[in-house]
Amino acid sequence: MKVTIVGAGNVGASCADVISYRGIASEVVLLDIKEGYAEGKAMDLMQCATNTGFNTQIIGVTNDYSKTANSDVVVITSGIPRKPGMTREELIGINAGIVKSVAENILKFSPNTIIVVVSNPMDTMTYLTLKATGLPKNRIIGMGGALDSSRFRYYLSKALNKPSNDISAMVIGGHGDTTMIPLTRLASYNGIPVSEFLSQEALDKVAADTMVGGATLTGLLGTSAWYAPGASVAYLVDSILNNQHKMIACSVLLEGEYGQSDLCIGVPCIIGRNGVEQILNIELNDSEKEKFAKSVDAIRNMNADLAS
Ligand code: NAI
Repeated sequence: MKVTIVGAGNVGASCADVISYRGIASEVVLLDIKEGYAEGKAMDLMQCATNTGFNTQIIGVTNDYSKTANSDVVVITSGIPRKPGMTREELIGINAGIVKSVAENILKFSPNTIIVVVSNPMDTMTYLTLKATGLPKNRIIGMGGALDSSRFRYYLSKALNKPSNDISAMVIGGHGDTTMIPLTRLASYNGIPVSEFLSQEALDKVAADTMVGGATLTGLLGTSAWYAPGASVAYLVDSILNNQHKMIACSVLLEGEYGQSDLCIGVPCIIGRNGVEQILNIELNDSEKEKFAKSVDAIRNMNADLAS
């Protein structure tokens, strides 16, 4: 199985790292516009092979899309990340141009590929990719919910003092500080609702920390995070390539689900070899519906900026 990652920066390289040491794909192509950069990242990663014991072949190329031919999955992480104080939404102008041209180049050599969009503002970039390529909706998947859900589980694990892996929790809605919706009502520890252990005040704090989870890291690191984003992309790619049918919150085109259409937003999806196999229409309560509607409005406003 072959995966191309466009953008060999922090997130792209971290994703290649997890894909290779977990043996998710046999071939990884890292492509970047910066001369020699992807080649360097690929060489550095390949020099881990003997000590970590992986067999994935990683190559790096500078803007040579012919080397990406017949990729099963293409991940788009090219673009600029945010700096402290910036919102994801402020990246729209620059990243829209990059994402559109990358998607067009990719399809020249991998017409049947599934595209995973990571560049921010991710929901709008996913919608743009869908419109620019005209691909069926199952083949364009925005990654944000997998990351936000893992951050949600991290903050829950801290509040509960229990391992993240024993906690089930999901974030839906937009991939933005004010648009994501951590579903505290449905979060559970080994099947027991977390509300059995945590007060409403504690749950509200967990949700608030989750929503600014990315900004917290950007403040600490001086640029946006990469380990958890890279691992989250790899988790999604694994479910696609290895047909795992995992339920993952992904940004996908809605056509009537949740009463919405013509936008991409995070909702629970079953992800397998054909990409998005099913969108799960879970019943939201009134407060969640209100938050979802606000998130939809914010994303629609951002999508409108694409036209200007
Ligand atoms: P980075 O700056 O480390 O890497 C981006 C790479 O893209 C650079 O190496 C750059 O040379 C390359 N690039 C730029 N234009 C290109 C083009 N036309 N073709 C090929 N390569 C090109 O940035 P980082 O931290 O890896 O973030 C990448 C993107 O992912 C940002 O937009 C960031 O906001 C987003 N992101 C999204 C997350 C999500 O959950 N959806 C999580 C974390 C980051």
